Amino acid sequence: MVLFKKKDDIQRFITQLRQKNNKIGFVPTMGALHEGHISLVRAAREKCTIVVCSIFVNPTQFNDKKDLEKYPRTIEQDLALLIQNECDIIFYPEVAELYPDGTAQQPRFGLGPVEFILEGKYRPGHFQGVATVVSKLFSIVQPDEVFFGQKDLQQTKIIERLIETTPAFENIQMNIVPTLRTGNMLALSSRNTRLTAEQLALAPVIYETLQFLKNHIAKGDLSPVIEKATAMLEAKGLKTDYVAIANKDTLEAVTEWDGQTKLAGLIAAFLGEVRLIDNLILTD
Ligand code: PAF
Repeated sequence: MVLFKKKDDIQRFITQLRQKNNKIGFVPTMGALHEGHISLVRAAREKCTIVVCSIFVNPTQFNDKKDLEKYPRTIEQDLALLIQNECDIIFYPEVAELYPDGTAQQPRFGLGPVEFILEGKYRPGHFQGVATVVSKLFSIVQPDEVFFGQKDLQQTKIIERLIETTPAFENIQMNIVPTLRTGNMLALSSRNTRLTAEQLALAPVIYETLQFLKNHIAKGDLSPVIEKATAMLEAKGLKTDYVAIANKDTLEAVTEWDGQTKLAGLIAAFLGEVRLIDNLILTD
């Protein structure tokens, strides 16, 4: 495993590997790695000859400063996990390396309507920050294949849009890896480490609620099922930002279902101070 902190150094190294016909797989992360991230590394390992992973807590995607400060940072454990799982190259830059002119002013990306709904509504500017850093990272690593988790379904739509609309990224292949869950079906997330034992016992209600949506959607008005689902979460003390049924591809809300549009269920809810998100494809 080789670790780089400077973009010019990693770029030079990867250019040499590419010239030897290696296929470069890239897994961008913000660290605090868990098995979910490792499943992305494994997926990259299967498809690519070189696996690159970045660890960078990106300040521009946090609309809440406190959330940025509280974001878990576990670099020693992260490096050990990546070594164990045969990651070849780690990029671990400082903020100034990726944002040499500071983080205040950034160019805007045209991400389409998906930027402003769901997470975009509750975390204004979040997806601009994601697009900004991912664009920088893609330009540095120039990967053949990139790997993102379905856990952040809306983020995968943003990245797909970024790839489609950026000529320099047109050859990048997107891979979406299924969400990894605990035995009681809580989606793995770096934020889970901030939950108390009591909250950890309550958190599986999020997946139970998604399953409830899956089992109860019916043609016509979807608002009654959404109301019941919201009540399920609130009964366990969760405070919901949204419980949504959406078009699986565009993530636009579907309130009246024609029985054919492919649907996804998406939830964002607070357990105490910790904001959790999850989603489930509701129709095949
Ligand atoms: O999903 C994440 O961890 C982050 O949003 C990403 C893609 C690494 C960009 O900072």
